[in-house]
Amino acid sequence: MNDTECPFSIFARWYDAARQCGLREPAAMALATADAAGQPSVRMVLLKSHGPDGFVFYTNLESRKGGELVANPKAALCFHWMPLERQVRIQGRVEMVSNEEADAYFASRPRDSQIGAWASDQSRPMKGVRDLEKNVARMAVRFHVGHIPRPDHWSGFRVVPQLIEFWQAKPFRLHERTQYTRTADDGDWQVARLFP
Ligand SMILES: Cc1cc2nc3c(=O)[nH]c(=O)nc-3n(C[C@H](O)[C@H](O)[C@H](O)COP(=O)(O)O)c2cc1C
Repeated sequence: MNDTECPFSIFARWYDAARQCGLREPAAMALATADAAGQPSVRMVLLKSHGPDGFVFYTNLESRKGGELVANPKAALCFHWMPLERQVRIQGRVEMVSNEEADAYFASRPRDSQIGAWASDQSRPMKGVRDLEKNVARMAVRFHVGHIPRPDHWSGFRVVPQLIEFWQAKPFRLHERTQYTRTADDGDWQVARLFP
């Protein structure tokens, strides 16, 4: 890693390596959000696209994370690619992807996943253990063999990074940490090495 390389290009290199190292879910990342009172919560989601605009994942907008991101549109992400002994931490503001982008991604999903997005009231209590199966069956009948549109309550969020830190394990715990920060979305990145 050299200090003049843009962090998005470093991320792309590291992510490619993670996809080639035999991991089952290299796209899995921890997503931390906080509610309006500042209470943090964290869960895994899947990275679906990345680039200079940010890091995109999809979810139910009425879920706990969806509600927290609407109330407090800031998030942190953390990847851990164990075989490579690498971690990437990202934080920044969050914006919704466009309807066109969400529609295109939703259309690319397997039909059963599309039905699942309609059937799950994600994060809300179920009255009975069969509720989900009943919802799936109802939605399968409703859409039958026709086109399944994206539900209004399902879309993507883009984390626009203000900080990206790359962590590479080194012998004797003398790990390498390189932190990139910027003050504006299109501002220059400042590079700092951190003690491990
Ligand atoms: C590896 C992995 C990947 C996941 N990917 C997603 C995802 O992309 N979107 C999503 O909504 N939930 C995903 N989940 C489920 C979430 O971790 C979580 O249970 C769910 O979104 C509800 O979170 P919430 O109640 O905090 O909103 C994933 C879980 C795991 C273990």
